[in-house]
Amino acid sequence: MPNVVCVGAQWGDEGKGKLVDHLSPQADLVVRFQGGSNAGHTLVVDGETTILHLIPSGILHEGTLNLIGPGVVVDPDVLIREINGLKEKGLQVTRDRLRVSERASVILPIHKALDLAREKSRGADAIGTTGRGIGPAYEDRVSRAGLRMLDLLDADALPERLGPLLKERNFLLKELYSCPPVEVEEIVGQAVEWREQLAPLLDDVGVTIDRALRDNRSVLFEGAQGTLLDVDHGTYPFVTSSTTVAGGACAGAGIGPTRIDHVLGISKAYATRVGGGPFPTEDEGPAGQHLGNVGAEFGATTGRKRRCGWLDLVVLRHSVRVNGLTSLALLKLDVLTGLPEVKICTEYRHDGAALHEFPASLTKLEACEPVYQSFPGWSESVAKVRKFEDLPDAAQNYVRFIEERLEVPAELIGVGPERDAVIERANPFKVRSR
Ligand code: GDP
Ligand code: IMO
Ligand code: MG
Repeated sequence: MPNVVCVGAQWGDEGKGKLVDHLSPQADLVVRFQGGSNAGHTLVVDGETTILHLIPSGILHEGTLNLIGPGVVVDPDVLIREINGLKEKGLQVTRDRLRVSERASVILPIHKALDLAREKSRGADAIGTTGRGIGPAYEDRVSRAGLRMLDLLDADALPERLGPLLKERNFLLKELYSCPPVEVEEIVGQAVEWREQLAPLLDDVGVTIDRALRDNRSVLFEGAQGTLLDVDHGTYPFVTSSTTVAGGACAGAGIGPTRIDHVLGISKAYATRVGGGPFPTEDEGPAGQHLGNVGAEFGATTGRKRRCGWLDLVVLRHSVRVNGLTSLALLKLDVLTGLPEVKICTEYRHDGAALHEFPASLTKLEACEPVYQSFPGWSESVAKVRKFEDLPDAAQNYVRFIEERLEVPAELIGVGPERDAVIERANPFKVRSR
């Protein structure tokens, strides 16, 4: 059975959670492979909203095993809170439903303190992080100072493991940022609950995935954030600290690239960004306000207002290339309803010449002017439409233009926040020849 990677093709919040929840009945396993509780993935089922930060978006489906991979940075407090939140809704999160990689990195309170202190000291140049400790946790992972989930199991060794990490990080907190330090005893105390609650869920996730693949089961890999927030391919330094692109699914889950059959890029039918950094097609006028209001564009993690603008094909072409997208899910098409005119950026203009490739230099990007193609809008509601042919002609033309320019089919189209509000033109889990 095919294995599918789902990644955000823009700046995050494209609707990955909704789409993964929608596709999960076809997957035996759903695997998160990077990021941490900076993610906010929204699932709406029969009017009830669930927001997930760490738990994969297949969790609401009985019979789907959800895995948090080695590439994720796990805040144990957030994970426990999320498990308890689901329990309150009547869903028991046991080992047959959720497992956490023993290799995943731990986000400690000191990582969150450092993240916040740094952002504050940056003032107007702040990245606008989610304050969840993501950057400092990934730094400690790469510098080989961090803890992995399995380190929480060994209570006796914990103080010794924490000592050097806290010594260095507390120096920064106290001396550079004038913030109170985090003591070893504090973390050792918290770790008692972490161990109690999470030890039963720890697993060698790569092995579990491999067994499933050998049994011909289907795996859905769920990305967090988006391509333009990728640490290498995004708008650096206004990015997150992980590899968000499809290639990251292999390293972050513990499987080889030969096991991936299909890469689905998730995009909104327009664009949003939350936090600082360049956003060439941002629209602060009435159209942007329409998108923000109708699309309810507020962050699922921080509640911040999302910046809104037009679809940008320079960005999406970049995403098609770095992810090797085989198809596109174009979500929130319904949000465009009611706009008299809809626009798509087809290229940038820089120094009097056309630019088709997303530039690495932010200075160059800031000097770029988006070139727009304008389309007539539509006023009919598309919320109940489930067949492409039933969309208003103007909406069909809008989607076809995107497909033609990107040379990638928009196989799934989102027309509302509910799980089933999807027009399915093809099934990503179908075996196909490329
Ligand atoms: P994620 O981080 O990529 O999972 O996306 P978020 O959950 O942060 O943000 C997407 C928002 O759009 C959520 O509020 C979803 O409920 C909502 N959403 C997803 N797909 C659609 C759609 O097709 N139409 C509408 N109107 N809302 C959608
Ligand atoms: P999902 O998975 C949108 C943004 C932050 C900030 C930058 C760095 O819901 O799409 P970080 O806390 O990661 O160090 O912040 O990245 N950001 C997101 N924006 N959706 C997300 O996740 C995001 N996760 C991080 O706003 O600009
Ligand atoms: Mg989100």
